Amino acid sequence: MRTNENGDFDGAYLEDRVTFSEDKLMDSDSKVVMMAWEKPLMEAYAKAVCSGGGHILNIGFGMGLVDTAIQQYAPVTHTIVEAHPEVYKRVLHTGWGDKDNVKIIFGRWQDVLSQLESYDGIFFDTYGEYYEDLREFHQHLPILLKPGGNYSFFNGLCGGNAFFHVVYCHLVSLELENLGYSTQLIPLPVKDCLGEEVWEGVKHKYWQLDTYYLPVCQSMQDSE
Ligand SMILES: C[S@@+](CC[C@H](N)C(=O)[O-])C[C@H]1O[C@@H](n2cnc3c(N)ncnc32)[C@H](O)[C@@H]1O
Repeated sequence: MRTNENGDFDGAYLEDRVTFSEDKLMDSDSKVVMMAWEKPLMEAYAKAVCSGGGHILNIGFGMGLVDTAIQQYAPVTHTIVEAHPEVYKRVLHTGWGDKDNVKIIFGRWQDVLSQLESYDGIFFDTYGEYYEDLREFHQHLPILLKPGGNYSFFNGLCGGNAFFHVVYCHLVSLELENLGYSTQLIPLPVKDCLGEEVWEGVKHKYWQLDTYYLPVCQSMQDSE
């Protein structure tokens, strides 16, 4: 879930044009949807959600970085949900639909829940949504995540302010705990991936901290 501190998405992102380049995907307002510097993070996410093998769900294709990494773990099935028509077109043009273990679902995750099953690993990373959307997604975890499964999400909440980011990390962990999930936050140093040149031509620096906290969530019932 990626938003900015002003929360100024007007809900139009999914109807607007997007631009793909080698190192980023941008919306029509020159805000970045996804950037290549996140590749090591996405690889770490894939490792976390694929650690139990089986059936994997990814919400939000973006540049396909996490999906590429998920494929390295040869999951039994790999379901991708993508809502933007142009990103979806790219998913198809880049051959994802031809892979035997990949199922692509076009639509907002909110609208395609009935097409989803139960998964061993789930990653959630959308754009243009709010904290409330992430919270709403978490309400569906008891159905979407199999017992013993691993869940994770892009943890970009207040990524420009260390204090508020830590507050959000606690808040989301507490909310997940109330739903019966424990959250482990794995610190990953990202300073070296983030030179000033990374942000050239970018309107909103959505991440400015030296450490990224990658959440790994599991049902607390499984550890009893
Ligand atoms: C930040 S990108 C995902 C990046 C991806 N993790 C990667 O490794 O490249 C967010 C993606 O979520 C998609 N998206 C936004 N809202 C969505 C929704 N409600 N349901 C499904 N996909 C959505 C966007 O179109 C975009 O492709």
